[in-house]
Amino acid sequence: MPDRYAVIGNPVAHSKSPWIHARFAVQTGQDIVYQPLLAPKDGFAATVEAFRAAGGRGANVTLPFKEEACAISTRLSERARAAQAVNTLIFSGSEIRGDNTDGYGLVRDLAANLGFAIAGCRILLAGAGGAARGVVLPLLAERPSALVIANRTVDKARVLAGGFAGVRACGYSDLAGEGFDLVINATSAGLSDAALPLPRGIFLAGSLAYDMVYGRDTAFMRQARADGAARAADGLGMLVEQAAESFFLWRGVRPDTAPVLSALRAG
Ligand code: ATR
Repeated sequence: MPDRYAVIGNPVAHSKSPWIHARFAVQTGQDIVYQPLLAPKDGFAATVEAFRAAGGRGANVTLPFKEEACAISTRLSERARAAQAVNTLIFSGSEIRGDNTDGYGLVRDLAANLGFAIAGCRILLAGAGGAARGVVLPLLAERPSALVIANRTVDKARVLAGGFAGVRACGYSDLAGEGFDLVINATSAGLSDAALPLPRGIFLAGSLAYDMVYGRDTAFMRQARADGAARAADGLGMLVEQAAESFFLWRGVRPDTAPVLSALRAG
C-alpha cells in the first residue's frame, strides 16, 4: 500500500499540488498517493482526523485553513510559530507536527530560480495578512539591509512588524521618495486584478517585483514594469519550491524542482 498524503482546502479542486507531488514521486521513486481533499468550511479538524484515521501520513493545507492547521498542531516548527500558520502537517504516532514551507519556497525561488541575492538588499513587503506573515522570518534570515511592511490598513502592518526586530511598518503613501531592490506583493488585491497604490519611483535599478499570485501576468507585475522594475515574476516557482520542501519533510528526499517548474510553465 502506498503512503497517503493530501492537500486540504476549500475550494481545492483547482490545486496544482497533486500534480506537482505526483511528479516528485515519480522522479524520486517514492511510492505515495497524493489527493485533493475538500473540507467543509466548519469541518477542517474533523477532515484531518478522518484522513489520519484512514492511514494518511501527512497533508498540505491551503486556504482558508492555515491558521486552524496551526491551532490543531501538537508541535510547531519555529517558522510555523512565526507565521502563526501551517501549510504542512506531518502525522507521526499521536503527534501532529505543523510546519510552514511557504517562506522557504519564496526564498528558494528567489535564490535558485531567479538568481536574486537577498543579502544586503532593501525589501518592501506589501500586505500584512496571512501570506505576508508566512514569509517575514525566512526573508529576515537571508539578511536584507532593510525590510519594510506596507499595508492599506497601517495598524495591521504595525502589528506584524512588531513581532520582528528591525522591521518597519507604514502605509503606501509613506513610501514616497524611497527605493527598493525587491518589492513583494503579498496582498490579495491581484485576485480582483487591482494594482497597488504604490508611489512612483520606488523600483531601484535592477530591481525585482515579485507577485505571490501565480499563473498569469498580474496587475502588480504590469504596474511594476511600467514603473521601472527590471524584472517581474509571478509566484509559480514559490508554489513548486514550497511543495518540494513539504515533500522533503515527509519523505526525507529532495526532488529536483527545475523540470517540474518548466513543465508547469509550459502548461
Ligand atoms: P491572505 O491570507 O491571503 O494574506 P488576508 O489575511 O485577507 O489574506 O490579507 C489580505 C491582504 O491583502 C491584506 O494586507 C489586505 O489589506 P488590508 O489589511 O488593508 O485589508 C490586502 N488587500 C486586499 N485587497 C487590497 C486592495 N485592493 N488594495 C490594497 N491591499 C489589499
